[in-house]
Amino acid sequence: MSDYYKNKTAWVTGSSRGLGRSIAEKLAEAGCNVIISGRNQTNLRSSGEGNSVDEAATEISGKYGVRCIAVCGELSREEEVERCIGEIHEKMGPVDYLVCAAGGGNVGTALKKELPQDYASHFDLASVKAIFDHNLISTMLCCRVVIPDMLARGSGRIITVGSIAGCGGNKNGNDGFTAYSMAKSTIHQYTRLLAKKLRHDGIPVNCIIPGNINTPSTRIRFGGDREKPVEGLSRLEHVGKPEDIAHLAVFLCGPGGEYISGQLIRVDGAEQLSPC
Ligand SMILES: NC(=O)c1ccc[n+]([C@@H]2O[C@H](COP(=O)([O-])OP(=O)(O)OC[C@H]3O[C@@H](n4cnc5c(N)ncnc54)[C@H](OP(=O)(O)O)[C@@H]3O)[C@@H](O)[C@H]2O)c1
Repeated sequence: MSDYYKNKTAWVTGSSRGLGRSIAEKLAEAGCNVIISGRNQTNLRSSGEGNSVDEAATEISGKYGVRCIAVCGELSREEEVERCIGEIHEKMGPVDYLVCAAGGGNVGTALKKELPQDYASHFDLASVKAIFDHNLISTMLCCRVVIPDMLARGSGRIITVGSIAGCGGNKNGNDGFTAYSMAKSTIHQYTRLLAKKLRHDGIPVNCIIPGNINTPSTRIRFGGDREKPVEGLSRLEHVGKPEDIAHLAVFLCGPGGEYISGQLIRVDGAEQLSPC
């Protein structure tokens, strides 16, 4: 691996497990120092990925010979995001790469309650707001606190994480995913607007749009391991792996990503060829 990533610092939100964890590991493997984060310090064990975030950080450090720390917080809350970036500055310095993977459709009880079939006239406002907070607002708040570092240094990369649920007509969506679909589509548009804003400052901003990826949250939601084809969900023979997303994130942070900005890049096993 080239020295391109050496001494760069990457903050990957939502990296206590799942896609974010894989992105953090691949960036560490490439040579970056990495901050991993989730809301909770200790929920990894229950999701079947082994250890606490602090233990995971020590493991990543040892395995790849980079600096890695865990900084956890509720990233939909301004004061928590401020606390996290303060801790990051103190322990790791300015952030070169921000990957906003925190989010998802299952926010406490919100998923179950969010938008019922007749959402045109009935919905649970608190649940809808929670979905937007955990996806769009957390992304915007994290971008806001790293952009000053990037502007001061005239460099940086930002990657947001959208979803195929936020594309087209949300063909896989049902009454449990409508607010998630809307929240993710706003991340897609936010990414384009941010890329436009930062285009004169040497800061590429792109959005990775994952298809159906095998992570703890989707295993819980769909039951089982999702290694077999899921009818109607993917055009390829298998669902994606977290690494399928992580490879693209590493590419976008590397030399290949210098001239790519404002893009919404789907990594979905050709799902996009299936009409929404
Ligand atoms: N897996 C898929 O098929 C798929 C498809 C399309 C898009 N995505 C997107 O990819 C991202 C990761 O998905 P995943 O399947 O890996 O999910 P996951 O296994 O549930 O992991 C989500 C991560 O985000 C953290 N998180 C969630 N809300 C947060 C908040 N408000 N503040 C701070 N951290 C928060 C979680 O930490 P805690 O548990 O400690 O809160 C965890 O580390 C999500 O944005 C999801 O919408 C996933």
